Amino acid sequence: MEPTVRTATPDDVEAIAAIYDDQVRHSVATFDLEPPDPQTWQEKVAARGTGHHVLVCEIDDAVRGFAYATTYRPRLGYDRTREVSVYLAGDARGRGVGRALYDELLGRLRTDGVHTVLAVVAQPNEASEALHRACGFERTGVLPEVGRKQGRWVDVAFWALVLDGD
Ligand SMILES: CC(C)(COP(=O)(O)OP(=O)(O)OC[C@H]1O[C@@H](n2cnc3c(N)ncnc32)[C@H](O)[C@@H]1OP(=O)(O)O)[C@@H](O)C(=O)NCCC(=O)NCCS
Repeated sequence: MEPTVRTATPDDVEAIAAIYDDQVRHSVATFDLEPPDPQTWQEKVAARGTGHHVLVCEIDDAVRGFAYATTYRPRLGYDRTREVSVYLAGDARGRGVGRALYDELLGRLRTDGVHTVLAVVAQPNEASEALHRACGFERTGVLPEVGRKQGRWVDVAFWALVLDGD
């Protein structure tokens, strides 16, 4: 069945948490060191509105990935910038699901009047960098050794996409 992208609902939180927690435990894609309280995801899902979206992708009626947009920094001058993140279950990778989630998410952010979208990619992550490049993001720089996980210092690359609009 074709992957379907839709807005996340409270019923999706368990699946979202399972996908995310696996990355917390086994990768540096996120700098969380412990799985967050599921309430964190409930709040993100409930907080949806202009410039704040949590989307899931279903394959064969099961949530296999999600993407979301959050505030970049709380100060008001940053209000038309958003940071995006995307996580898929292992068996959903490499078949266009990340792209489908981002196409929908970026479309919604454009409609919302968001001007710039940022992604922060812990190094190395070839798949994530390829996805962001494919979606039109540009790699704007690397912050050296700002994260520590799995017993090593980790660089992060910033990727930016300026959407249409003033
Ligand atoms: C990163 C991730 C979201 C990418 O999603 P995906 O569904 O696998 O990517 P897609 O199949 O949509 O591919 C998008 C583009 O990336 C390329 N790509 C995907 N996986 C790749 C890989 N492992 N190596 C090189 N290129 C890759 C595809 O060829 C495609 O490029 P194209 O449009 O020019 O052909 C997914 O691999 C994932 O969830 N990884 C673990 C969590 C993670 O790292 N999240 C990102 C945190 S910053």
